[in-house]
Amino acid sequence: MQVVILNDSDAVAEYGAQLFIKQLSKKPKAVLGLATGSTPIALYQKLIEANKSGDVSFKECSSFNLDEYLGLSGDHPQSYRYFMQQQLFNHIDINPLQTFVPAGDTDNPIDACHHYEDMIREKGGIDLQLLGIGSNGHIGFNEPSSGLMSRTRIKTLAPATIRDNARFFSSDEEQPHLSITMGIGTILDSHQSILLATGAAKAGAIAATVEGPLTAACPASALQMHPNAVVVIDEDAASQLQNTEFYKHVERENLRLKARLGL
Ligand code: PGA
Repeated sequence: MQVVILNDSDAVAEYGAQLFIKQLSKKPKAVLGLATGSTPIALYQKLIEANKSGDVSFKECSSFNLDEYLGLSGDHPQSYRYFMQQQLFNHIDINPLQTFVPAGDTDNPIDACHHYEDMIREKGGIDLQLLGIGSNGHIGFNEPSSGLMSRTRIKTLAPATIRDNARFFSSDEEQPHLSITMGIGTILDSHQSILLATGAAKAGAIAATVEGPLTAACPASALQMHPNAVVVIDEDAASQLQNTEFYKHVERENLRLKARLGL
């Protein structure tokens, strides 16, 4: 696991955006794994700017989102489909038919989960998976105790997640307690994954992810098994890590090596 500690949230978003831009220039038909939440918004804004200025094109790529609330249709303002349309898809040249988000309003959610896995497989798997992290260590809606080999399925949201996300729902709106989410196994199958976290509220979850034991109690710790995972965080999110100086040293060495190899 590569741990990149940057000064602030803008640098975190820029690092993430550059990874997506590089991925798309290397492979225009890339399969992107996308995430919702407040953390990726700044990254999406940078991708929109890069698309408008012609530095990146999404024309040939496809995307799969991590998760969706079960019971919300795509036109519900709190649905993750709606979020993606507003925050990214409506502003870039991606083919709308190639943007996939789990179906929140399906009559048959179990089939929809299998179908989602099939579609990812048929596209050849996810090249680059973007992740946020919950303050309880969740990735997607894989809450603590999620199976480390799990696939796309229905998950019950943890009370902490319902609390964290309550701010997005008005008091007269019913907040869903169920979701469809890619599994941890689905995420681990991505060729590369990038987890972004900013702010002190994420510091405990980041310490458990990077330095804690591999455990379903912190689903993001499963990334320790990922062959190509990078955790990109600001100083606040890094504040509970023990080995900060070592990670910074490794990153300096990485940059030196890349410059030497012309990568
Ligand atoms: P946040 O959510 O980016 O809004 O903090 C992250 C998550 O719960 O995955």
